[in-house]
Amino acid sequence: MLSWDDEVTPAPAPRAPQAPVQIQPQLQTAVPPSGRAQRENVALDPALVAKPADSAADIAARRVNAADKRIINGKTDVNQLVPFKYKWAWDKYLAGCANHWMPQEINMQRDIELWKNPNGLTEDERRLVKRNLGFFVTADSLAANNIVLGTYRHITAPECRQYLLRQAFEEAIHTHAYQYIVESLGLDEGEVFNAYHEVASIRDKDEFLIPFIDTLTDPSFTTGTTENDQTLLKSLIVFACLMEGLFFYVGFTQILALGRQNKMMGAAEQYQYILRDESMHCNFGIDLINTIKMENPHLWTPEFRDEIKSLFLRAVELEYRYAEDTMPRGVLGLNAPMFKGYLRFIANRRAQQIGLDPMFAQEENPFPWMSEMIDLKKERNFFETRVIEYQTGGALNWE
Ligand SMILES: [Fe+2]
Ligand SMILES: [Fe+2]
Repeated sequence: MLSWDDEVTPAPAPRAPQAPVQIQPQLQTAVPPSGRAQRENVALDPALVAKPADSAADIAARRVNAADKRIINGKTDVNQLVPFKYKWAWDKYLAGCANHWMPQEINMQRDIELWKNPNGLTEDERRLVKRNLGFFVTADSLAANNIVLGTYRHITAPECRQYLLRQAFEEAIHTHAYQYIVESLGLDEGEVFNAYHEVASIRDKDEFLIPFIDTLTDPSFTTGTTENDQTLLKSLIVFACLMEGLFFYVGFTQILALGRQNKMMGAAEQYQYILRDESMHCNFGIDLINTIKMENPHLWTPEFRDEIKSLFLRAVELEYRYAEDTMPRGVLGLNAPMFKGYLRFIANRRAQQIGLDPMFAQEENPFPWMSEMIDLKKERNFFETRVIEYQTGGALNWE
């Protein structure tokens, strides 16, 4: 291993001619023919080639003009965050940072005592917790992989990429939180982490999502045609409106209902922070979708809208089956039929948020207290189990 005192021998400069650099469309910048992109395709050692001085016109043409930015298929330099065009994305990035939290800040001692006490929870409550974690322990890995390996490279607005980077880290924190709960309670990790293969109601939800992830993460998939742009838009809708915006809600409601009865308060507090993050992810995704629609109105065809509607209906059905499976009987004052109304209420809201008509007759929200939880402000600590307030960074000690 090198230490700072070791002398480092510089690596020899490469002598062989280099292969021309293939610039991916997502990394490409809009430059005039005499600009950088063309120079990167030169096969000779750049050090041996005399570069003509850039003219003032070339330099001016390379500067990013905010009006030229596009969410997809943009040609402006993705490395230049500013000038802003999509200020809403930057504002959400700042809000995400302001809401930063870490799982290990939350004390799990009372949860552990309750879980280990044979009379602490009913069998139905234990089943609910295990099935609940069975979905979530892999769901946020799916979300993270979808962002990092899929969505990110197809989005050409740097403000939106900046938010996606923050979101990806938040998904890692969520996976960390679920793992922290599983480990604290001493649950069977094999059982919980394999639930998405082994429990039908969980597997069906994941199998619904995975084709939409696979499309975006396929290295050969690129945007730029109506068909492919619609494919991307569809995946974004599935993720924001149906995964983060619907598939999480039975699970969130269940654990928060436990917390409202003074049970599993540490887990409930973590779910509350996760819910706050997820509602921001969902809102960002909806802004992204609506801006893509505005910039590319030709994508929003009647056939496309019909396809989206059928995906919504399927997702409501799958989430309802998950509610039935996790709550075969009434538990914590909840039962599966209550979720039928709740899921329809949420699906209507998501549909309207992206400009579709509501899909179900007027549905009331059976859990108005969930709205209060979503609006959690950083200063407020609903379950009051968090041991410290998050502080930015640790104090560095140079001595
Ligand atoms: Fe998440
Ligand atoms: Fe998320």
